[in-house]
Amino acid sequence: MLNWESIFATRSSRMKASEIRELLKLLDRPDIISFAGGIPDPELFPQAEFSQAYAEIFGGPAVSAALQYSVSEGYRPLREWLAKQMAALGIPATVDNVFITSGSQQGLDYLGKLFLSPRDTALVTWPTYLGALQAFNAYEPNYDQLNPGGNRTPEAYVQAAAEAGGRVKFAYLSADFANPTGETVDRAGRERVLDLAEELGIPVIEDAAYQSLRYDGEAIPPILALEIARKGDINSARTIYCGSFSKTLAPGLRVGWVCAAEPVIRKLVLLKQAADLHSSTINQMTICTVAERGFDEQVAKIHAVYKHRRDAMLAALDKYMPVGVTWTKPEGGMFVWVTLPKGTDGAELLAKSIQSAKVAFVPGRAFFADGSGENTLRLSFSCANDKMIEEGIRRLGDLIRGEVAQAA
Ligand SMILES: Cc1ncc(COP(=O)(O)O)c(C=O)c1O
Repeated sequence: MLNWESIFATRSSRMKASEIRELLKLLDRPDIISFAGGIPDPELFPQAEFSQAYAEIFGGPAVSAALQYSVSEGYRPLREWLAKQMAALGIPATVDNVFITSGSQQGLDYLGKLFLSPRDTALVTWPTYLGALQAFNAYEPNYDQLNPGGNRTPEAYVQAAAEAGGRVKFAYLSADFANPTGETVDRAGRERVLDLAEELGIPVIEDAAYQSLRYDGEAIPPILALEIARKGDINSARTIYCGSFSKTLAPGLRVGWVCAAEPVIRKLVLLKQAADLHSSTINQMTICTVAERGFDEQVAKIHAVYKHRRDAMLAALDKYMPVGVTWTKPEGGMFVWVTLPKGTDGAELLAKSIQSAKVAFVPGRAFFADGSGENTLRLSFSCANDKMIEEGIRRLGDLIRGEVAQAA
């Protein structure tokens, strides 16, 4: 039999199924209360609107175009709608600055492919979105810590990257309600990231997957908007904005976008020609119709439900978590990030929790490029009702109290 491992490219050595993901697959059991998922609640999908939009396409003259190959840049009316949305966020953009991807995940993969040679350094927050690490890993980079509140000098980053055998190539972050922490980078932090990127001569990849999901507090301009305010226009900007319809409309259609300076967009178009030619024509058309007819109403509907769940989870954590456990207070998104007392291991806790408490969550370590964060965990409230939250957090609190008492 062929020794597959011996013939796979070196880049495949970092492509490993995460143990956690394998474990979480088993958790679709009715006796387990799961805060692990991190996916939108399917009850909130605009099903009737999608159904109507598909029916209209199939019943009308657009059907031939909808089922045909189309251009790699994406469906023009959708790009036009997005350019207007971007302008409303303080990002004056034309259609030539907007490129449609198959989910924002594809944007991350393409950007990894575009910028990273083996041993180059990607700056990411500790922790960061696991899917971004998976996308970038294929291009064999090193990682260094991006800390929007920190004071590492550009020279220190350059030196560390040179020692690792490459150059610093970009800074990647999710500035709004990040996955996994739920935290938001304040305006000063965003400005500091821009300063650092300018000093290092690198782009900033702004992952805006959760940006529309703000439930309270004041919106902070996207990093790209802050940069355009400095520079005057998008084509002078180094920030590459990755957006998604997955958290607002539905992830199953796989439609996201990149908004950036034209030279970046032109390269992304070439990457897409080589990879998958274009994103699904019919799905782009459908997303466009549903977005044009009622994007704001859909977002308002989601806000009301997720805000309630976020509040219920924070209240339950206050009520049931023992002293020594802390957690974030997100103003939006889907996640609360819990820090346990030092010495408590999130992965071991998950194993016990599944056995006894019957509550699932994601241990935090997988989100750290340096493998730290063992005493952290991610809870998602997006698919949990009041009863699940109250009962699940009570059981988890009891389990953690027992663990902490044992360790003391
Ligand atoms: C921070 C972040 N970025 C990007 C994605 C990818 O989303 P999609 O490819 O569905 O747009 C996700 C999905 O969970 C995410 O959490």
